Amino acid sequence: MALQNRIGPAALALVATFAFQGAAQAQVTFASADGIDVDVTYAADVASIIQKNCTVCHRPGGIGPINLVDYDDAKRYARRIRRQVSNRLMPPYYYDNDIGIQELKHDWRLSDEDINTIVEWVDQGAPMGDPADMPAMADLPDTEEWSFTPTLGTPDVVVPSSPIDVPASGLDLWHRPFAPIGITGDRCIKALQVKPSGNAKGVVHHANSTFQLRQDDGSFVGTGDRATEYAMGKLGELIPDGVCRVLPADSWLRWDIHMYPGGLGTLAADEVIHDNVVELGIWLHPEDYEYEYKQDLGLYGFMEGQRDLLLPPNGIEMTEGLKSFDHPVRLDSFQPHGHLRLRSASLEIFYPETGRTEVISMVSNWSAVWHQSHIYEDDVAPLIPAGAVLVMKQWFDNTAANPNNPDPDQWVDYGSRTADEMSHFWLGVTHLDEDGYDRLVEERKEKAKIIS
Ligand code: HEC
Repeated sequence: MALQNRIGPAALALVATFAFQGAAQAQVTFASADGIDVDVTYAADVASIIQKNCTVCHRPGGIGPINLVDYDDAKRYARRIRRQVSNRLMPPYYYDNDIGIQELKHDWRLSDEDINTIVEWVDQGAPMGDPADMPAMADLPDTEEWSFTPTLGTPDVVVPSSPIDVPASGLDLWHRPFAPIGITGDRCIKALQVKPSGNAKGVVHHANSTFQLRQDDGSFVGTGDRATEYAMGKLGELIPDGVCRVLPADSWLRWDIHMYPGGLGTLAADEVIHDNVVELGIWLHPEDYEYEYKQDLGLYGFMEGQRDLLLPPNGIEMTEGLKSFDHPVRLDSFQPHGHLRLRSASLEIFYPETGRTEVISMVSNWSAVWHQSHIYEDDVAPLIPAGAVLVMKQWFDNTAANPNNPDPDQWVDYGSRTADEMSHFWLGVTHLDEDGYDRLVEERKEKAKIIS
C-alpha cells in the first residue's frame, strides 16, 4: 500500500479497542508519529479501496442508501464513511477478527491498513490529491447480476417464485409456492444464490427452499434435500470441490419466503412492492463430475429448545446447542441465525477424549440485516472426528443497550416473525468416512511441511 511505503511501518501506531459486543462504541484510532508528514489522498490511496469494497452496493441501483462512486460522493459522506469503517460496520460482514478461523472465502472485511488509510484521509480533511493518481473505475457487474457471475458465469438454472404483491406496512407475510426446476437427472450443485429482484431486497427477510417430488395426484413429497437458505444480505453458497450437494432428478422447488412489509432498517422501502419475485440461481457440476462424499446444508444448535425460548423484558438470555456425528465430518460453512435481540453467536468444538475445547468462529456484533454464510477456505475447514461435539452458543439481549432492539419492554418468544426470536445455526457439512478423514488430515500435514 502506498501509505505504508511512504511513512514506513514503524510510524503507524494502531490503537484498536473493541469492547465485547460494543461495535457501536468501538473505534480504531489512528496515530502517526510526530513530525512525519503523511499525505493521504483520495486519488492515490482511498479511491481504490472504495471502488473495490463499497461501490458495488453504493451506486445508482445498488442496495446501499448513499452513492460512493466518485470523489464528490466520498468527500460529502467522509464522516459517515469514517464512522462505518472504523466501527467495522461496513463493508457488512460481521465476523470476529481476533478469534477462530480467519481464512474465509468471499470475506468482505477491510484490513486494518485500509481502515487506517480511510480514517487518516478523513482526519486530514478528505483531500482529492493529484487527479493523475486516480485509478480507472473498476468494471462492476450490473446491479441485478448474480454475485457469482464474475467467477462462475451465469447460473445453469434459474427458478423464480410466483409473483406476489407486498403491502407498504402491516404484519409479516409468508409465500410458499412450488416451482418446477426442469432437470431430469440427479446432479451435483456447485453454487447457489437466492436473489430477490429489484426493491424486494428490502422486504424479503428470508427465503428457504427444499426439493420436492410431484406425485401422480399432483401433491408433493419432500426428497429430504434442502436446496438453500437465504436471509437478508446473504451472498450465496459455494459448495467445495470434490463433494456433491445433490439436486435430485425431476424435483420441484418449494419456496418458503418470509416478507416484512415496509422493510427492515435503512433498507426499508416503506412502499408497496408489486410482483415481488425471488429467484434461485443454481450452478451445476458437469454430468460426469466425480465425487466421493456428499455435502449438505443443515439446521443445528438449540433446536428443540428454541421453541421454549422466552426473553423477559429488559432481560438477557443465552442458549447452547450440542451436536455430534457418528462419522467424521468436515465443516464447510457457518452461519448463525437469529433476529433483532440476538447479540452474538459462537461455534466451538469439544473433544471428549482430551477435554480440549476450540473456538472455531464467533460473531459478536450480530445484525439481523446482514446474514452471511462464512465459508472456510479449503485448507482450514475444520475436520471433526466422530464423537467430537459441536457447541453452539448464542446470547440474546432484550435490554435498551442492544442498538437493534425495537422495544426492550416486550416479552419476546420463539417465532417466525421478525419481532420474535430464533436460535440456530446453518452449517455446511461434508459427511466423510474414516478413510476420507485420515486422508484429509494427512494431506494437510504434508502441505504444512512444504510451507514450513
Ligand atoms: C453488500 C453491500 C454493501 C457494501 C459492500 C457496502 N455497503 Fe455500506 N451500506 C449498505 C447498506 C444496505 C446500507 C444500509 C443498511 C445498513 O446500514 O446496514 C449501508 C450503509 C452505509 C452507510 C451509512 C449510510 C447512512 O445513511 O448513514 C455508510 C456510510 C456506508 N454504508 C459506507 C460504506 C463503505 C465505506 C463501504 C466500503 C468500505 C460500504 N459501505 C460497503 C450496503 C453495502
